[in-house]
Amino acid sequence: MATNATPQSGEARSSSARARYQYLTDTNAGSPAGELLRRYWQPIALQADVPPGGAPQAIRIMGQDIVLFRDDKGNLGALDRKCIHRCTDLALGRIEGGGIRCPYHGWLFAVDGKVLDQPAEASARLKDRIRAKAYPVHEAGGAVWIYLGPGQAPLFPKYPALQGTGAHLYTCRWFGDCNWLQASEGNIDPIHTSYLHQIDLGTAEMKARWGAFSVAARPQVSIEETRFGVRLYTSRALENGAASMRVTNFVMPNACAVGGFEGDLGHGGLTMLWDVPIDNEHHWRWEFIYHRSGKLNKATLEEQYRSEKIAGTDRMKRTSADHYGQDRASMNAGYYLGMGPCFSVHDVIITQSQGAIHAQENEHLSSSDIAIVRARRMLDEGAKAVSEGRDPAGVVRTTEANDFRDMVVVTETIAAGDTREALVSRVSNDRDFFAPLQSP
Ligand code: FES
Ligand SMILES: [Fe+2]
Repeated sequence: MATNATPQSGEARSSSARARYQYLTDTNAGSPAGELLRRYWQPIALQADVPPGGAPQAIRIMGQDIVLFRDDKGNLGALDRKCIHRCTDLALGRIEGGGIRCPYHGWLFAVDGKVLDQPAEASARLKDRIRAKAYPVHEAGGAVWIYLGPGQAPLFPKYPALQGTGAHLYTCRWFGDCNWLQASEGNIDPIHTSYLHQIDLGTAEMKARWGAFSVAARPQVSIEETRFGVRLYTSRALENGAASMRVTNFVMPNACAVGGFEGDLGHGGLTMLWDVPIDNEHHWRWEFIYHRSGKLNKATLEEQYRSEKIAGTDRMKRTSADHYGQDRASMNAGYYLGMGPCFSVHDVIITQSQGAIHAQENEHLSSSDIAIVRARRMLDEGAKAVSEGRDPAGVVRTTEANDFRDMVVVTETIAAGDTREALVSRVSNDRDFFAPLQSP
């Protein structure tokens, strides 16, 4: 009995510690994480999916249903999807008369929710007394963004990756068949790049694109809090005391800024990812792949992504039914996971494999999970701030705060004696690095 008593009580203690952040997986309206995520702009659609004259889009985000549409003047609007008259689906609506018209009884709504017309209504004044719920929207980085929170929307954050246009930016998304949090935590787990994503760099082109990730030496992670999240330093020892230092970021509450697809384009490339809940068991993984000055090889990227997606959708062809087509022979021939070279596919599959909602109580976190632990704490603190009526970390209210030169993303060899702080300071003060974009 005595021999069992101590481990059991220890286990019970750690189990309660592990379960502490479980509630962050629920993002329905009114939940702590749901209220937290609603304090930030979230991507909801590709701009290409809402062209002028296009059909209204039915959007599900955090268990909430929205209709996104452009009126006949090109203005973008986002309203609750159910008509306020008798709850008809406005995604079936007609675009006309300066708004979206419900097809059931013809009520017409402007992008700001104002009722413009009620053709069968006896009272001409009723339409001035009611209003559809409308949400602020913003277009940036090839996506449409929404603010679902209360009060004045914060400034749209000027993250470097969202400044790109033309050949400097590639925007896409992947459907994720699991909760948002485990997907987001995969982005701040730099250790896995040396394992999960390890592929044979047989060609010069592959080396240029992926070389920075494939150093298989045992990496070490350290972190520090920033005003917008957590900065991660992943260092791999090289000869003569030098180290390969990779700097990436957790960005509150469901984004990250990491080394990207810059390949041989050098400094100035980064990728931002958002994992946006559709509901508690599904999410969209958004990718904003950016290079400040170099032109991305978009054709290669698109070709690889297209080959992995069901035609005309952002869903992966691979399914769990056949172990995602895992090719075990290829696992000994250059593909660690046995599922080809596409990093996004690796990430989506591996986080889905953790379960629809990852059971944190079954985890055994280790020293290399330090960033995940800190990020969960920041989310926890953010939810607390919201419950107390304060802005959580990373919400931008002033133009001074809307300068993200401190969102440093870089992979560089540093000499013996050089420090991680010196590297960050060098990059964030490098005027050329943050110079305006070259022409698209
Ligand atoms: S239900 Fe929409 S106008 Fe009646
Ligand atoms: Fe990954």
